[in-house]
Amino acid sequence: MVNTENKKTIGPASSASAQKQIDQANSAFWNELCGTQLAQSLGITDDSMESLRRFDEWYMDFYPYLETHIPFQSFSGQKVLEVGLGYGTVAQRIADSGAIYSGLDIAAGPVAMANRRIAETNAKGTAVRGSILDAPFPDAAFDYVVAIGSLHHTGALDRALREVHRLLKSGGGATVMVYNGTSYRQWVLSPFKTLRRKMSDPARYVSHNETDERMRRAYDANAAGSGAPQTEFAARAELAYLARDFARCDITAENIGAESILKYLSRPTACRLFGPYLGLDLYCKLVK
Ligand SMILES: C[S@@+](CC[C@H](N)C(=O)[O-])C[C@H]1O[C@@H](n2cnc3c(N)ncnc32)[C@H](O)[C@@H]1O
Repeated sequence: MVNTENKKTIGPASSASAQKQIDQANSAFWNELCGTQLAQSLGITDDSMESLRRFDEWYMDFYPYLETHIPFQSFSGQKVLEVGLGYGTVAQRIADSGAIYSGLDIAAGPVAMANRRIAETNAKGTAVRGSILDAPFPDAAFDYVVAIGSLHHTGALDRALREVHRLLKSGGGATVMVYNGTSYRQWVLSPFKTLRRKMSDPARYVSHNETDERMRRAYDANAAGSGAPQTEFAARAELAYLARDFARCDITAENIGAESILKYLSRPTACRLFGPYLGLDLYCKLVK
């Protein structure tokens, strides 16, 4: 079911040509693989499989809860689509699990990285360039969709979630991570906007780009120090509303950064104490 009220977007994404500009800005920005600066800080300067393995180990250690939110162990023989590939750690885990892997990304760099990993490990599947707003796959093509930190960059989170729904078989599942619009960082950097978001009627949600570049930069910045061109933050209730076409939607908050006084806490402690209430990311488990 498509709700026409919810199709309306404000600002730049309100026409096809504006969406094309967003897509172009995204494919330029994300061509620098998300995780590049992290890789450099780990001393990784090449893309040998040994270096990628080191990167992946760090990534899965830093986000240990990915193992609970993404059912890798049930993927063998399943058709799994990943949306938004970055450095390819999750692509590698999905492909290694025996799934028939498909990857989709708006930028060339992440697609090349995922395909290189698949070729090197003789896994099944391929990644292609394209947008989740208009995905190049037929209806009900997949058993599972994984989208970690990608749909909120498209310029149209509502439309992206409807496309995930279209792509899933009946009874299929998805793990979608979207930035939490009422996390501690939102309360600190933008308390009035966060209060309005918390109090607002989720049914009135319209997709929008965060206008404050400083806020976008606090989440994703490239080597030149610019923030991602598009970032949309959603509160729990808003995300549940956007996912209303799914039969099931369970949302869990995770992830605490290391800014300000948080740097005095160990990451596991901070994530355990505050993650479920004020975490930066919302993990949404969906069933069609
Ligand atoms: C923050 S990165 C996340 C990458 C990876 N999932 C991770 O967690 O490290 C966002 C990814 O979403 C991709 N992306 C942005 N807009 C997209 C769109 N419309 N369709 C598909 N992918 C998109 C970007 O190119 C980028 O690779």
